[in-house]
Amino acid sequence: MCGQRMSKIKVAINGFGTIGKRVADAVDAQDDMELVGVTKTGPSFGCDLAVKKGFPLYCTFDEPDRIARFADQGYVCSGGLSDLLAITDVVVDCSPGKTGAENLAKYQAAGVKYMFQGGEKHTLTGRSYTSSANHAENLNVEGTRVVSCNTTGLSRTLVPLYDHCGSLKVECTMIRRAADPGDSGKGPINAIKPVLKVPSHHGPDVMTVKPEIEINSLAVAVPTTIMHTHAITADLPPGHGLTTESILDMWRETPRVIVMHGADNRITTTAEVMEMARDIGRKWGDLHEIFVWEDGVSLQGDRLYYFQAIHQESDVIPENVDCIRALMGTESDWQTSVAKTDAAIDIYYNL
Ligand SMILES: NC(=O)c1ccc[n+]([C@@H]2O[C@H](COP(=O)([O-])OP(=O)(O)OC[C@H]3O[C@@H](n4cnc5c(N)ncnc54)[C@H](OP(=O)(O)O)[C@@H]3O)[C@@H](O)[C@H]2O)c1
Repeated sequence: MCGQRMSKIKVAINGFGTIGKRVADAVDAQDDMELVGVTKTGPSFGCDLAVKKGFPLYCTFDEPDRIARFADQGYVCSGGLSDLLAITDVVVDCSPGKTGAENLAKYQAAGVKYMFQGGEKHTLTGRSYTSSANHAENLNVEGTRVVSCNTTGLSRTLVPLYDHCGSLKVECTMIRRAADPGDSGKGPINAIKPVLKVPSHHGPDVMTVKPEIEINSLAVAVPTTIMHTHAITADLPPGHGLTTESILDMWRETPRVIVMHGADNRITTTAEVMEMARDIGRKWGDLHEIFVWEDGVSLQGDRLYYFQAIHQESDVIPENVDCIRALMGTESDWQTSVAKTDAAIDIYYNL
């Protein structure tokens, strides 16, 4: 611990959508945090979830007419964003990507600490965060950005590899889900869509949290909603001393990574991975862990090949909790924070 806090960290969630509702639950699970409120832009079915959980509901905006609309539809709205920020230590911005700049000005004016998500650019805060890569660099800072689901997934398996090897050169292809399951506005629905910006932003984004890893990426969007898959090639430096088996052992010991034999377990596609996730029992069938197919890992000479699957809606959720502790300076050791976060979430879901 960096310092003893007598009171719980007061956390607000601005944007109670796919990511926001999940971060809210994960924060609610922690005994060192208090969820002081969540925002919605207006009344909708998503408000019912906040009401059911007993999370105070606020309006994303301060205009009285927008706040009044909640009562018109039977919801108790505790005020506007400014009212919420007035009782907050850290705000977790879970708004749609690229709304960050406008919101950042509000957070700075209110004098609260702030975290954005991967839909915002690194330049918005000049900092990025993922637990295993750079928790220490984010201790006690005013604000940062939790990197995207893909960058989080790449970091989970590449950072321990880099830490062992001391250097790493990576090429990867992101096979991306086209839309989240609840998102009816995106495609493709019958096409494979290459991202024609080369390299895609995903690989270089890893370098915002671990600049020492040399990495580039390509990306294609495919008509599926449940997971991303990464096909990764990593060149290890001479003298690394690793074997396929020792790399698998390294990942088995890495927090938030699951290694399973696809053929032996009959988990050979993302459909079965997500079915297993539903069996685990977290809400929404979430899988916070990165899934690595054991039988898809092969070290040939100094070149490592592997596949991993990413549950895009949930791998960043526990990272947000660790990031709150980094910003508040209440836990300097990332592994201690990760263990605390994950244990609390598992208790919350009776796992
Ligand atoms: N979904 C993923 O797979 C995923 C994974 C990792 C990271 N991210 C990143 O996480 C962030 C949120 O994504 P999401 O998928 O959760 O989006 P989402 O499902 O669309 O949720 C965004 C929420 O923010 C609310 N909102 C709209 N305008 C706002 C504003 N100006 N200020 C505050 N809230 C506002 C939305 O409106 P209502 O209140 O009207 O509902 C909605 O509830 C993005 O940066 C995204 O790139 C997403």
